[in-house]
Amino acid sequence: MTPGPALAGESVTTRIDPALAPEGYVLTCDPSGIELVGGSAAGVFYGRQTLRQLGPDVPCVRVEDSPRFAWRGVMLDVARHFMPVPDILRFIDLIAFHKLNVLHLHLTDDQGWRIEVPGWPRLTSVGAWRPSTMLGARVHEIYDDRPHGGFYTTEDLRSIVEFAARRHVTVVPEVDMPGHMQAAIAAYPRLGNGFDGPVRTGWGISHHVLNLAPETLDFCRQVLDHVCDIFPSELIGIGGDECPTDEWPGGRELQTEFTARMADHLAGRGRRLYGWDEILAGGAPAGAVVAAWRGVEPAEVAIRAGHQVVCCPDVKLYLDYRQSDDPGEPSPVGTLLTLEDVYSYEPPASPLVLGAQANIWTEHMESLRRVEYMAFPRLCALAEVVWSPPDRDFADFSARLPGHLTHLDTLGVNYRPLTGPRPEDARPGAPGNPRTLPDRLAELHEMTADLR
Ligand code: ACM
Repeated sequence: MTPGPALAGESVTTRIDPALAPEGYVLTCDPSGIELVGGSAAGVFYGRQTLRQLGPDVPCVRVEDSPRFAWRGVMLDVARHFMPVPDILRFIDLIAFHKLNVLHLHLTDDQGWRIEVPGWPRLTSVGAWRPSTMLGARVHEIYDDRPHGGFYTTEDLRSIVEFAARRHVTVVPEVDMPGHMQAAIAAYPRLGNGFDGPVRTGWGISHHVLNLAPETLDFCRQVLDHVCDIFPSELIGIGGDECPTDEWPGGRELQTEFTARMADHLAGRGRRLYGWDEILAGGAPAGAVVAAWRGVEPAEVAIRAGHQVVCCPDVKLYLDYRQSDDPGEPSPVGTLLTLEDVYSYEPPASPLVLGAQANIWTEHMESLRRVEYMAFPRLCALAEVVWSPPDRDFADFSARLPGHLTHLDTLGVNYRPLTGPRPEDARPGAPGNPRTLPDRLAELHEMTADLR
């Protein structure tokens, strides 16, 4: 970059050159004007984001750029706390600004069902609402005694998909099954194994899971059909994580069989199954893509088994985990996960690695404002991990970050200040439960025993 402004306010000449990488671009700003050449419309879009990041006084500069990974993702959990459509759109805008290109939308869980499905009205009239919400970590057993809920209509979801597509973001939907299904079972007890109670109010994993009767599998297929009708994504998430088997007459092999049936059904619609790394137990269906989350080991297991993998190890990329040990951090949970920890994450070197994603579980995020606090600036670090070459330098990133944060200020993003939480960021009444890394690693080792 050479100092000195290019022509301020000058319009941008754009064109597409298929000789460039599809998501790549070349941006040339000099006193005669600004030229942006993209390998495709996506490349032009990313060049425009770079221009936005350069600010109003564009310097004389030539940038030749393309991403390292195809999957540059974020998962947002809208089940634990519902987020209204405008919040989702704002979030998409923010991730696209960082050249991230996948929004994995976690649409259902024990604590809420968020997608309208034709023929199954109680999923949303009952399953989208819980009578009360836990505040803070489970160990404290504090509840707010206020209802919470909401859901997306088909129109809402279509508008989200379309808004995202215009920003070159693919929305990958997830309906978690056969566990994490208490909200659906609260709506239709015949899907369960005798449970007849409300949508779950506390965090943690419900033992009330789907029965695997033929009618219940038909229900799952109907839900997936509807999901396929709305979301053009080739990959369709079926979750598959943390499914207790104690309500079933058999063990884990029943889930393996269930997952295979769902994969077959999706294949019939020209789609591929996307699931958490638990689907590797007993063998995941051919062609399934694995979201490897239980520490760093499952990504290696998925690769050895020949599956494409999206890396999202909790101890590196779970943005609900606390950002510092400052006592003012809101509801501190998980292991310590600093900006530098995220920046230093390096996915395994394998052509089967599609990329990486940060996961934002929202048990302790009751609003988009809170999501922004937990997401930024750690998501800025992830954006570089998945876009830039591996020879990254945290000192260099740290030197550039304050300039970038001024853009986030302009956008009104409630990012966590680099100096630590402000008094108003605290979440009094919602205490956390911080964990140590050695404790968590030991737990993960035990949790993944069936993959070894
Ligand atoms: C997960 O964190 N249960 C995927």
